[in-house]
Amino acid sequence: MGKQKIIIVTGASRGIGYDTVLELAKNPDNQIFALSRNKAKLEALQKMCANNNVQIIPFDLVTFEEDKLIRAVKGISSIDALINNAGLLINEPFDGLSIKSWRTIFEVNLFGVVQLVQTLLPQLSTAERAHIVNIGSMGGVQGSSKFPGLSAYSASKAAIANLTECLAEELKDKNISVNCLALGAIQTEMLAEAFPGYEAPVTSRAMAAYLAEFALNGHQFHNGKIIPVAVSTP
Ligand SMILES: NC(=O)c1ccc[n+]([C@@H]2O[C@H](COP(=O)([O-])OP(=O)(O)OC[C@H]3O[C@@H](n4cnc5c(N)ncnc54)[C@H](OP(=O)(O)O)[C@@H]3O)[C@@H](O)[C@H]2O)c1
Repeated sequence: MGKQKIIIVTGASRGIGYDTVLELAKNPDNQIFALSRNKAKLEALQKMCANNNVQIIPFDLVTFEEDKLIRAVKGISSIDALINNAGLLINEPFDGLSIKSWRTIFEVNLFGVVQLVQTLLPQLSTAERAHIVNIGSMGGVQGSSKFPGLSAYSASKAAIANLTECLAEELKDKNISVNCLALGAIQTEMLAEAFPGYEAPVTSRAMAAYLAEFALNGHQFHNGKIIPVAVSTP
């Protein structure tokens, strides 16, 4: 048996987060905490994992009941990796995109991450070297191609990219590395909402395999980096 790793994955009820939990759970040395709002889907995911190493945290990153989260992670002394994968995309032309939608997108894609990192800092700073992986988007990268309907989403992903650089600096003395993967098109339900009819060249499972490996080992080679992970536009 190798060294046990404790990993938190947000947005685990579907898409890349779901497949990343499945991937990580193949190794019985990994202990995974899967977070999203949809309890039934998390329970179904847990059942899919034969090593009995997945615990679920039904949790809304917008309402953010901090006490509930603290109770859920109470028994954990340290967290080796936090994968901030949960994301919200609303595809709406700018002139019709309400300020309420802007706020909700930023609540999930930015403030949810901020609060999660703040809440989990005690356990992240006691790991040998923890790795926070923020899932960004090519749309949030300066100078990349932009697409109509995605202004709030892309702006929120630009914000998470910048936050990554800031946190890497601020948390380095706590033994925490922070990186951002700026993803290109991956075949998921979110992609279908953003680009109806478009077929992405990368599957969610393939992305999940890359992400699981990166979360566990990428911080040996990167810190404070925004890494494009894209083979196509979009
Ligand atoms: N797919 C792509 O082509 C692509 C490209 C670039 C970047 N990305 C990024 O990659 C990540 C995963 O994308 P995906 O395509 O797998 O998305 P997805 O299929 O839409 O899944 C999004 C996940 O986020 C969770 N989530 C949404 N709102 C939440 C909230 N308020 N509280 C807690 N969890 C919440 C959802 O769970 P519940 O509904 O159960 O809460 C779901 O599990 C996202 O950050 C996305 O922006 C994806």
